Amino acid sequence: MEEEGIKFSVSKNVFYNPKMTFCRSMCSIAVGAIRNQLEICDSFCATGIRGIRYAKENKNVKHVIFVDIEKNAIKCAKENAKKARIEHEAIHGNISRVVFDISADFLELDPFGTPAPYLYDGFRVFNPKKIAYLSVTATDVAVLCGGKTRACIKNYHSKPLNNEFTHENGLRILIRRIAETAAEFNMGIKPLLSFSKSHYLKTIIEVKRSADLAYKSMDMLGYVEFCQSCGYRNAAKFPREKCTNCGALLDYAGPLWLGDLHEKIFIEKMAELNEKRNYSHKDEIRKMLKLFEDEIGMPPYHYELHAMAKRLKASLVPKTEEVISGLRKKGFKAGKDHFSPTSIKTDAPYDILLDTFSESIQ
Ligand SMILES: C[S@@+](CC[C@H](N)C(=O)[O-])C[C@H]1O[C@@H](n2cnc3c(N)ncnc32)[C@H](O)[C@@H]1O
Ligand SMILES: [Zn+2]
Repeated sequence: MEEEGIKFSVSKNVFYNPKMTFCRSMCSIAVGAIRNQLEICDSFCATGIRGIRYAKENKNVKHVIFVDIEKNAIKCAKENAKKARIEHEAIHGNISRVVFDISADFLELDPFGTPAPYLYDGFRVFNPKKIAYLSVTATDVAVLCGGKTRACIKNYHSKPLNNEFTHENGLRILIRRIAETAAEFNMGIKPLLSFSKSHYLKTIIEVKRSADLAYKSMDMLGYVEFCQSCGYRNAAKFPREKCTNCGALLDYAGPLWLGDLHEKIFIEKMAELNEKRNYSHKDEIRKMLKLFEDEIGMPPYHYELHAMAKRLKASLVPKTEEVISGLRKKGFKAGKDHFSPTSIKTDAPYDILLDTFSESIQ
């Protein structure tokens, strides 16, 4: 097998999904955008391709610790790491047991399904560190993104919403769960990069040891209210009962992370690095990084124009660019986002958005 120029083997019964190449490339750029020297733990490593790529493609990676519960997988990762000539250690075992004996600055959590039970393990790996990085993949999208409310309450202690911005809610529910776990270890969080794509959600978070930062992270938690009747939405510390737009009862998602999903300087650094690399997904990564930049400083929800048109019984769906430029002309912030090609984020009040939407059809 080969991924972005790196040759590796996939043994029998060892998991490898070529569709995650985009995710590995995006995350490898993120690793390179971290200023510090890193010791990486690639737990759930399977073939080891993630950790191997992080180390081969970035000068700031000193050492990789591979962990996998399957014998075949850890053997395969060890052979691949040796062939790739990266400084490494390979541990066969359950991550929840081995964390007590290892320490790393960057932990990759890439399990099958929910990462929730492994978050505590992450903070054990960071135990002596003042600053560290947690990279989490969640493939339980149906749970986080609305379809399975009870399972989400069970695994993430939060209510999802099965609506037109369900993927953003899901990503924010995942980040909130990380923030709460971090806080118990006296650590505050700062999401550097977070996204939703096909069947997974991904976030890379900087964590810093400080009770004050942990309190600050807790201050960034709240709810997103949503009116199933008129489509009004709003971020609030606590969900209210009635819609201020139409008076109907409000639904809500949360508690969830209300802060930014990405950090501006970090995304800019990633964009620079992407230009220097020749990944097969270079163009897609460039476009996505631009969308991440546009999302920074915007409200923690977006508007999907097809869903709006359906709700308003509009004859046409206006062009995304038209709605955005209409809102900007009125003095509001507005831009595209990465959740859907036909969705926008804006700080405009809902009535102004509704007017601008209608004007953009004419
Ligand atoms: C989704 S795959 C990882 C894919 C890999 N990171 C990549 O990018 O190709 C999940 C891996 O986690 C391993 N695994 C499952 N539970 C584990 C646990 N508790 N501790 C360590 N490894 C585990 C499985 O054997 C499997 O190889
Ligand atoms: Zn309403």
